[in-house]
Amino acid sequence: MPARSIPGQAPVPTPEDAPNRERLQKALARAGLGSRRLCEELIADERVTVNGVVATLGDRVDPDQDEVTVDGVVVGVRPGLVHYVLNKPAGVVTTADDPQGRPTVIELVPSEPRVHPVGRLDLDTEGLLLLTNEGELTHRLTHPSFGVDKEYLAEVEGIPTRGALRRLREGVDLDDGRTAPARVSLLGDHLLRLTIHEGRNRQVRRMCEAVGHPVTRLVRTRIGPLTDRTLGPGEWRELTGAEVQELRLAAVEVEEDAEDVDGAEKDPGSGTGHR
Ligand code: URA
Repeated sequence: MPARSIPGQAPVPTPEDAPNRERLQKALARAGLGSRRLCEELIADERVTVNGVVATLGDRVDPDQDEVTVDGVVVGVRPGLVHYVLNKPAGVVTTADDPQGRPTVIELVPSEPRVHPVGRLDLDTEGLLLLTNEGELTHRLTHPSFGVDKEYLAEVEGIPTRGALRRLREGVDLDDGRTAPARVSLLGDHLLRLTIHEGRNRQVRRMCEAVGHPVTRLVRTRIGPLTDRTLGPGEWRELTGAEVQELRLAAVEVEEDAEDVDGAEKDPGSGTGHR
């Protein structure tokens, strides 16, 4: 449809006039929300907003400019967004550029488009690390108010006592404050599984050290809903659209749960179930 013309006024642009505008369901499908048909249902069910306004079927968006949410969560709809999960090996730094010339995680994934790591793992920590060029998701997964569960396997010196496990579960006093309650299980004499949602520097190592059991090996095995036992050290794969959306939703859920826990001080240390 051409621009609508009102006598005496500049033409009003229609969606078709704006070269960057595309059907909302197409943009949502590209972002991994499901087939176009399914995305039409999301729109019809009023679960989608564009720039704060509930969307309707037939709406078009400029994927570079407009803010789209699904179920209240901002969804990156720009073309060219990529999301990788890497099994980081020990001895590789979580940075784009290391002044000391050590190998970096960026060198292990495709160089174009440029991505950044989501959070960081220490030089000697192994396991799952996300890399993406989607700023909204990075913010959601790393900002303290959106803490997402992260699960680690830690090999430690000595055999942790029940008292040490209780301290880890209830919170350990570190030099930057007491840690939030953690889920902790003893899987073997020297093997712990810890689930935390804070992202402090060297947190697991410092927690274990504080209770008398320095970590000898640390592997991250889960980020929110995301696990992967198939990737060998240094291997990566692209996340599916469904995995990306699950990560987005996990960040929201944790924020809501955190409010519940603050208010009720619920069973912080059962050491078993998953959120
Ligand atoms: N905790 C640590 O101590 N190190 C990491 O790399 C991640 C969590």
